[in-house]
Amino acid sequence: MDKLMDKMQEAAMYITSKIGNEAVQIGMVLGSGLGDLAEQLEDPIFISYKDIPFFPVSTVFGHKGRLVVGMLEGKRVMCMQGRFHYYEGYGMDQVVFPIQVMHAIGINNLLVTNAAGGVNASFKPGNLMLITDHIKLMSESPMRGPNYDELGDRFFDMSTAYDKGLMELAKKEAESLGITLQEGVYIFFAGPSYETPSEVRAARILGADAVGMSTVPEAIAASHMKMKVLGISCITNMAAGILPQPLNHKEVMETGELVKESFTALVRRVTNLWPV
Ligand code: HPA
Repeated sequence: MDKLMDKMQEAAMYITSKIGNEAVQIGMVLGSGLGDLAEQLEDPIFISYKDIPFFPVSTVFGHKGRLVVGMLEGKRVMCMQGRFHYYEGYGMDQVVFPIQVMHAIGINNLLVTNAAGGVNASFKPGNLMLITDHIKLMSESPMRGPNYDELGDRFFDMSTAYDKGLMELAKKEAESLGITLQEGVYIFFAGPSYETPSEVRAARILGADAVGMSTVPEAIAASHMKMKVLGISCITNMAAGILPQPLNHKEVMETGELVKESFTALVRRVTNLWPV
């Protein structure tokens, strides 16, 4: 079987057989530091990626590979606990397949979260950043190849990839919770090496505020299908060259851990008030 629509349908049917026909309102991709939120869902149903037809399987240490469906703040949500990264060797089509399956299940709202390096020197590790837009200069588009008109147009708008109303909601709720929410442009680098100081400087000149290795493919696929997207980064470290010390994955994980509580509080509040 090689037609995307058939694969999507088969994966969606498998998931529906486990979760029933009741609508799921929001899809969530939980990056480093936020994965535990999936374990706070009420009446959770767990589905391992390895059991879902045509799903890739996550290989990154610290990422669980499963969907969790349940109630959060009065909404029925589907969380990806662990995502697929381009640097793991997956094709862009595989990276975004779960988003397309969410859409096949009837989900039109997507929250994407990630760990990112701060490119904007005024940011501090531990800050959260609302993604207002993104830059992708690297690697092919996930929509490269035959277009599936059932999903979206061949050439599609990206000027409102991140939903304005959801951004306003996130800003307002962060403020009322007393959480600093930076705003900015996320630039995608393919990884898995962290960037060089010169690449970070170039990213800043291009207009980026944060750098990371995920999220952009998912946001592009979601835009193709006209899903409403909200993106939030956790600035786990300053990007290469800003501080004298080298970057390491441990720091990224540790900061993610420290910010978990405020990140979770914000996501909960936004979920509660998310118009569906
Ligand atoms: N660069 C790329 N990806 C990242 C970083 C970074 O500095 N921090 C967390 N994810």
